[in-house]
Amino acid sequence: MTKYFYITTPIYYPSGKPHMGHAYSSIVADFFARFKRIDGFQVHFLTGTDEHGLKIQRAAEKEGMDTLKFCDTISQTFKNLSKTLNLSNTDFIRTTEKRHLKSVQYLWNELAKNDDIYLSKYSGWYSVSDEAFYNEDEIEENNGKKIAISSKSLVEWVDEESFFFRLSKWEKPLLNFYEKNPQFISPESRKNEVISFVKSGLKDLSVSRKSFSWGIKVPGNKDHVIYVWLDALTNYLSALNYPDKNDKLLNNFWPASLHIIGKDILRFHAIYWPAFLLAAKIKPPLRVYGHGWILSGDEKMSKSKGNILDPIDIIENYGIDALRYYLIKEVSFGNDGNISQERLEDCINSDLANNFGNLCQRVVAFSLKNCDGKIPNKIEFHSDDLKILDKFKNNLNTIREKIDNQDINFYIDFIVNSLFEANKYFNDQEPWKKKDDLIRLNTIVYTTLEIVRKISYLLYPIIPESSVKALKIFNINEKDIDFSSIENNEFLIKDKKINKIDILFKKIEKNND
Ligand code: MSP
Repeated sequence: MTKYFYITTPIYYPSGKPHMGHAYSSIVADFFARFKRIDGFQVHFLTGTDEHGLKIQRAAEKEGMDTLKFCDTISQTFKNLSKTLNLSNTDFIRTTEKRHLKSVQYLWNELAKNDDIYLSKYSGWYSVSDEAFYNEDEIEENNGKKIAISSKSLVEWVDEESFFFRLSKWEKPLLNFYEKNPQFISPESRKNEVISFVKSGLKDLSVSRKSFSWGIKVPGNKDHVIYVWLDALTNYLSALNYPDKNDKLLNNFWPASLHIIGKDILRFHAIYWPAFLLAAKIKPPLRVYGHGWILSGDEKMSKSKGNILDPIDIIENYGIDALRYYLIKEVSFGNDGNISQERLEDCINSDLANNFGNLCQRVVAFSLKNCDGKIPNKIEFHSDDLKILDKFKNNLNTIREKIDNQDINFYIDFIVNSLFEANKYFNDQEPWKKKDDLIRLNTIVYTTLEIVRKISYLLYPIIPESSVKALKIFNINEKDIDFSSIENNEFLIKDKKINKIDILFKKIEKNND
């Protein structure tokens, strides 16, 4: 039976250059996509750009560009970023595509058909930067300007005719849904804030705008464009060709397994999205994970604050795998994390260059010299060897469970410990002193090579390029990486030639003044 896994990133506003926050959501989603793929799942991995709404219209106006041309340019930058980040996405959606427009209008009609939409008037605060409506108690005054308390972005007063979604009607069904699906909102710490917000009472939601035109038209009323969040959230379905009931993508991959998002957009994904779906009689996704923010000097990185660490600069200087490893290891998943160049360089030097890269080089060099450049043949495992090898087998299912709970922190700790133990094993066993006991020497080399293979498999979701390079030692190709084979202690074929590989990570010279 094929196992399916559908994972998504948020779709990004192409209002400016991609930054580290965007890179983070994408890298984390790619981590899960790659893990599931090597664990035998058929994976659909979606990312894309969110191109409608006043925020984009104004950004294009500021550049003096036609709005669609503006979107074409910046959306391409995000597509390029996906390549630079080495994402394994299977689709990239733009909300200006026809396939998306069709799905959004269909969903709208479904909501209207079920009497969940009505025409009225919206008077209240709106933040263009967040594309969100705020209640009076959610805003404050700062230097004479009204801003949203949560995001600190400017709000403006809106007073116009609008269609409304009967969100209030879905308050109880939503609470029931959360209760029946306790892991729908993750991590646990974020769940309570959503539930108490819903419990405090939901007001109907304005889902159309009349005062600008950059969006998808409300079916049957061309004066209104659909609220950009209702438009944007539907991307997760339109990429599966919703509402085509015979479509394989839709049948195999919906409900989505995991929406990876930042905590700032949790309300949209954990309240509005399931409410729209319940109203349209569509199953909500299985899980929404709201990760923390990447901070730069304790503040959320953002264009308006001008404190952006450019992922492209970092990749140019240190390589993509260094950035991927660093973000996955140093930002405790679910929490906010501060990043710095200094810590990034420490990570490269100690974990990647020393503990992983150097171990690969050492064991290969030793085998070339002492084992005829082949995977050793005559071996007899001792308890020391089995102890370190069996650790992988014994943790196979735990790792799977942890991944299903998005416990990236466990996963990376497991790798860091395994690397530490592997280096210690090779040093303590001193194969260079075993030249008069070839079986022992061969067994130590075989064991170390097996560990390098297993760790390279585990590292694949984090640093795919370097893992594939390391696996060249054994002539193992990317498509042959199979997570379940880390339980096999004698996977490597004896007598097969092993290959020398290039240095995986160069050490960074640190300036200690
Ligand atoms: N377009 C909406 C999402 C629609 S999804 C149906 C949007 N776009 S965004 O470009 O502003 O942000 C996309 C994601 O990047 C969000 O998940 C947000 O949390 C994340 N990040 C933006 N800045 C961030 C940090 N400084 N740190 C970590 N992630 C943050 O919201």
